Amino acid sequence: MKEKITTNHFEKLRVLGVGGSPRAGGNSDALVRQILQGVREKDIATEAIHLRDYSFEPCIGCEKCRKDEICTGLNDGMHLIYPKIVESQGLVLISPTHNYNITAWVKAFIDRLYCFYTYDNNRPRGWTSRLNGQGRKAVIAAVCEQETKKDMGMTLEAMRLPLEALGYEIIDELPVFGLFDKGAVKKEEKIMAKARAVGLNLASSLLT
Ligand SMILES: Cc1cc2nc3c(=O)[nH]c(=O)nc-3n(C[C@H](O)[C@H](O)[C@H](O)COP(=O)(O)O)c2cc1C
Repeated sequence: MKEKITTNHFEKLRVLGVGGSPRAGGNSDALVRQILQGVREKDIATEAIHLRDYSFEPCIGCEKCRKDEICTGLNDGMHLIYPKIVESQGLVLISPTHNYNITAWVKAFIDRLYCFYTYDNNRPRGWTSRLNGQGRKAVIAAVCEQETKKDMGMTLEAMRLPLEALGYEIIDELPVFGLFDKGAVKKEEKIMAKARAVGLNLASSLLT
């Protein structure tokens, strides 16, 4: 059986960047890199991962995690990611907009964080997150092809609400519009400067 994960001790300050695009070398990849660059400028260690590089399933709703306090219903790539989440006080989560929403990878990733909740036995069940109360902070970013908030749909909300529920304070949000071509964001100086500023902002907030 998988060991329970202890969730309240950070060995050192670090920020995990999680990219949710299936497209390697695309706009989300460049944004993750740039935001983490801003974080590192404040001497905080960073790591970037891309969900497409991990083989993992969506949550199957078996509820075994309720007793085991870690996902024991699925034995897959998420178990390589859980320790990174636990050990990182800061999180950068980025998704391109796919059909007005986060990508299927990001949705599956968020659902698999369900194992960090503790529930009581009432109906509906009261809940708390075992990641809560640890000064966890996050920034979220979304990138889409079209030009308006409506076209981005619920991409940012779909990350913000669950991360807040898990116990992250959302420090900053970066919506990026009007980009389709792979990696096009790298040529957008203003957006790249904003992404760096978002990283600096997260780092400053973690250091206070
Ligand atoms: C399946 C799919 C669905 C998409 N849906 C939307 C959408 O609803 N709104 C939008 O503005 N762009 C949409 N796009 C465009 C992407 O958001 C855009 O190309 C983005 O820059 C891709 O980021 P990436 O390079 O990080 O993958 C969609 C792209 C794909 C492949």
